[in-house]
Amino acid sequence: MAPIRRAIASTGLEVFPVNLGGTPFGRSTDRQQAFEVLDAYRSGGGNFLDTADGYGDGASESVVGAWLTSRAAHDEFVIATKVGKHSQLPGLRRENILAAVDASLRRLGGDRIDVYYAHYDDESVPLADVAGTFSSLVDAGKIVSIGVSNFRAERVEEWLRIAQDEHLHAPVAIQPHYNLVERAYEDELGAVAAKQGLAVMPYWALASGFLAGVVRNATQAEKHSEFAARYLGERGDRVLEALDTAASNHHVTQSTVALAWLIAQPTVTAPVAGARTPEQVAGLVEAATLDLTPEELDALSAASR
Ligand SMILES: NC(=O)c1ccc[n+]([C@@H]2O[C@H](COP(=O)([O-])OP(=O)(O)OC[C@H]3O[C@@H](n4cnc5c(N)ncnc54)[C@H](OP(=O)(O)O)[C@@H]3O)[C@@H](O)[C@H]2O)c1
Repeated sequence: MAPIRRAIASTGLEVFPVNLGGTPFGRSTDRQQAFEVLDAYRSGGGNFLDTADGYGDGASESVVGAWLTSRAAHDEFVIATKVGKHSQLPGLRRENILAAVDASLRRLGGDRIDVYYAHYDDESVPLADVAGTFSSLVDAGKIVSIGVSNFRAERVEEWLRIAQDEHLHAPVAIQPHYNLVERAYEDELGAVAAKQGLAVMPYWALASGFLAGVVRNATQAEKHSEFAARYLGERGDRVLEALDTAASNHHVTQSTVALAWLIAQPTVTAPVAGARTPEQVAGLVEAATLDLTPEELDALSAASR
């Protein structure tokens, strides 16, 4: 069977519709556990990893690089990383980006980064300078394409306008905070992505575990994720009920349903989701082949309104 892939427009890159997140690698997930998670993702058909130089100040990138090398898998995988949050190279000044990209390449161990995101907007640097620096990295062959994370819609549009006016390589992907219980993306950024044909990789796709259905009260939130506690309440209960129903209909986990809902949304290319164990990875990769019915999609959307 042909692998399941979605195109990132105008790049030639083809990615599995679930992007594996690397935040915990080398931090809460040690190297051996991370390797098990990465092996499970690869066995499930995955080829798309997300990391950042800010995750453990390079620790996550180092684990990803070591794994790619040990599995001789650099050519098989599409690698996304980000700049702007490393403690020694914060922000988007040109000299920081130039130093950061080389450091990321060294840690990742390949000859190019496939999607290189600005991790956050840095309004202390003129956007034209940031756009020029990223574009020069494409020209230098260090990165294949440009991505933008955590930017407001009008700033993404401004970058695209500058790129067009200055004949620069333009961003082709965005990584916004978007999931079944965080839907502000749909208001403005979603319209920009649709109009400009951007690839969209929503992060915290499982709302830090809340959408996996394992956090249903304050005690469980304490054990799994304090962050997920913010979704507890009437609306959260409605969402969990809709997830439970669809999960039981298809004999899959709630995390699979939550990701399948995102994959089915207009503009979404590949949600970014994390896993601590190979068992959890199975729930993520299954989302690529789960077709929710129109009624299930509507019920999930209505529950989270
Ligand atoms: N661009 C940005 O600014 C930004 C910000 C945040 C994140 N991200 C990206 O998004 C990625 C994902 O974020 P995340 O891992 O923090 O959050 P997430 O994907 O929303 O949630 C992951 C958590 O869900 C739980 N989970 C997953 N599958 C499960 C299953 N089958 N059953 C039960 N629980 C399950 C696990 O929690 P337990 O560990 O409690 O079991 C896991 O750690 C990051 O790695 C990063 O690449 C980007």
